Amino acid sequence: MALLEILTVPDPRLKDASVAVERFDQELRSFIADLEETRQAGPGAVGIAAPQVGRFQRIAIVDVSKTRKPVANHGHLVLVNPEITHWDGFELGREGCLSVPHYTGNVIRAERIRLRAQDAQGEVREFEMEGFEARAVQHEVDHLDGLLFIDRVVSRRTDLFQRKVYQKGGGGKG
Ligand code: NI
Repeated sequence: MALLEILTVPDPRLKDASVAVERFDQELRSFIADLEETRQAGPGAVGIAAPQVGRFQRIAIVDVSKTRKPVANHGHLVLVNPEITHWDGFELGREGCLSVPHYTGNVIRAERIRLRAQDAQGEVREFEMEGFEARAVQHEVDHLDGLLFIDRVVSRRTDLFQRKVYQKGGGGKG
């Protein structure tokens, strides 16, 4: 296991789109273990995506089960080649990101989504998600398309907030 280096803004590689995973082998699972270790080392990180550590493949991890306020969730999820197949409703909410260490921002996301993804073994799974978990997944899928939450705020003047203290448990970062 190893901690991986996180790319942060304004690294231009964060704008690159990632490609689909085709091989579900031991190397992939070992990378996912390193990605998970890196997520857990990040302060309060509920998600992480492979391109954030410079691997441009469609892989993300989301786990909102340990947030301070309990939220609907599916536990710890390894999402390979995730695809959002349905969006419903919209909601404004605060987001943070390991790649944007100094700011949080208000972002509009769908309230409910349907998601199809493979797991680390390549098995296809489908989920219905809502609220904070749905938000976290939308944030991570954006990373796979080279988008950051700061690209989605309506106004950088009124919807971006400087972090006072970058501490564990604050905000929800991905
Ligand atoms: Ni992020």
